[in-house]
Amino acid sequence: MASSSRAFVLRHTRLRPVPGLEEIRLHLADEVLPLWHAVQLATDDPDAALPYWAFAWGGGLAIARYLRDRPEAVAGRRVLDFASGSGLCAVAALKAGAASATGVDIDPFSAAAISLNARANGVRAAVIQRDILDEELPDVDVILAGDVCYEAGLADRAVTWLERARATGIDVLLGDPGRRYLPTDALVQLAEYEVRTTTELEDLDRKTGWVYAFRAGTGGEPRAGRTSVASRVIDSSS
Ligand SMILES: C[S@@+](CC[C@H](N)C(=O)[O-])C[C@H]1O[C@@H](n2cnc3c(N)ncnc32)[C@H](O)[C@@H]1O
Repeated sequence: MASSSRAFVLRHTRLRPVPGLEEIRLHLADEVLPLWHAVQLATDDPDAALPYWAFAWGGGLAIARYLRDRPEAVAGRRVLDFASGSGLCAVAALKAGAASATGVDIDPFSAAAISLNARANGVRAAVIQRDILDEELPDVDVILAGDVCYEAGLADRAVTWLERARATGIDVLLGDPGRRYLPTDALVQLAEYEVRTTTELEDLDRKTGWVYAFRAGTGGEPRAGRTSVASRVIDSSS
């Protein structure tokens, strides 16, 4: 599946600079619906997920801009890019000097895209392809979460997990372009950017993207039970 997923990503995308972040190149698609249809055919699954991995989303774009402005947030640190999609935030972290970055996503095409996109940018990202939200917290220094509040179920689980991570001392950066399920009361705004997205995905091709940290005191489990991300890696770009 891994090699066929890579071939699928390469066949349906074009490597190009990310608007507003031209130093990063990603395998991106122009149109969402034809690609979604191709995914449904390739997987023989009419309920296949949208090809999130073929686009740079507003929340991830905001985090990537933040890391370009503030590389010290990740430099020399172990980073996990949760709900990685294309791997944009992992790539941005590695370009900002992260010691390591792991992209986590449930979508097998995303796992392929993360590897391909890391390689296209001359960096190496590890990949985890499964749902880790009910597992022990990963052994990392920083978690990036770009655009995870677009759907109630994911937002609820992800925010609970991110708050728990924050409470154990992991730095968390949440990027968001104003999604419905953003838990604003729990967050402190760190930065605001105009990000260039596409009307294939959004109502406007320019959106405001915010970067947030969690307020102190949210979450709250003891620092215990971390497991090594490296022990869970299923794939690496080379
Ligand atoms: C809107 S996209 C954001 C992608 C990327 N972070 C960005 O900003 O460009 C959301 C991503 O969350 C992933 N996702 C959904 N549920 C997930 C879960 N339980 N664990 C990990 N990733 C998940 C999807 O597959 C998709 O790639």
